[in-house]
Amino acid sequence: MAQEPPTRVLPHELPASLREAGLDNWIREPLDGAVDQRRRIIMPPAAAVLGTPARGHQGALLAETRHPDTLFMMGDNPALPTMPERPTLRDFYLLRFDPLPRTHLLQSARVARENGLDEKVIMACLLHDIAIAGLLSANHGYWGAQLVAPYVDEEVAWAIQKHEALRYFADESVGYSYPSAYVDYFGPDYSPPAYIRREAEAARRHRWYMTSRLVTINDIYSFDPNVTADFDDFEDVVGRHFRQPEEGLGFDGSPVAHMWRTMIWPNNFL
Ligand SMILES: [Fe+2]
Ligand SMILES: [Fe+2]
Repeated sequence: MAQEPPTRVLPHELPASLREAGLDNWIREPLDGAVDQRRRIIMPPAAAVLGTPARGHQGALLAETRHPDTLFMMGDNPALPTMPERPTLRDFYLLRFDPLPRTHLLQSARVARENGLDEKVIMACLLHDIAIAGLLSANHGYWGAQLVAPYVDEEVAWAIQKHEALRYFADESVGYSYPSAYVDYFGPDYSPPAYIRREAEAARRHRWYMTSRLVTINDIYSFDPNVTADFDDFEDVVGRHFRQPEEGLGFDGSPVAHMWRTMIWPNNFL
């Protein structure tokens, strides 16, 4: 008599050593609404695991896929909201960015607007940390500028890129001091590397210096959970300063489309 296939894959016992290494965090048991009822392995990207204990377990994760009911995650991860076919900037804010960085971006843009700043500055504030929100934290100013460069004024992308270096250096003439949060984050003895110093010095002599400096001035470190700001409050600014591609971000064939697709499907194995 033919056996009925099981409707759900039973939770699968990993060797204890792998469980202790946290490897089970990278394995998604089938979720309701999943395309099928197979277990999905998420291979953590090199940028996330280099220098951590998780690095040594990639072979073990690969070996897990030998189980007939186990595959690598590709395409929609049911743990994330599905993105529309032609995603807009708003979709990334609402469906991908975590509440903490999203709120940070919205609060920074809100303060810039309350300070009566130019819309280009408000737009730059709204976008300045999107790489942290959805892609990568290290070099976030550069990743962020690259993500948006095809869709915003050159000055906005420049300001986003340079805020990375400028935020480390006070400019008392415009009321910017070294962020006290950085003393907590990096320690009182932290000194930025030489390339960051050179970038900041060059940015200070650039004609768009103040645009980027204003991003750092309006960069809100308080992360106040009680201050609410909505992406739709900036619909007008976004409409005027962000050229949303008709095919959707990730699908317009631009040189950065793959970066947006990486945020749509961040857990694709390859
Ligand atoms: Fe930043
Ligand atoms: Fe920021």
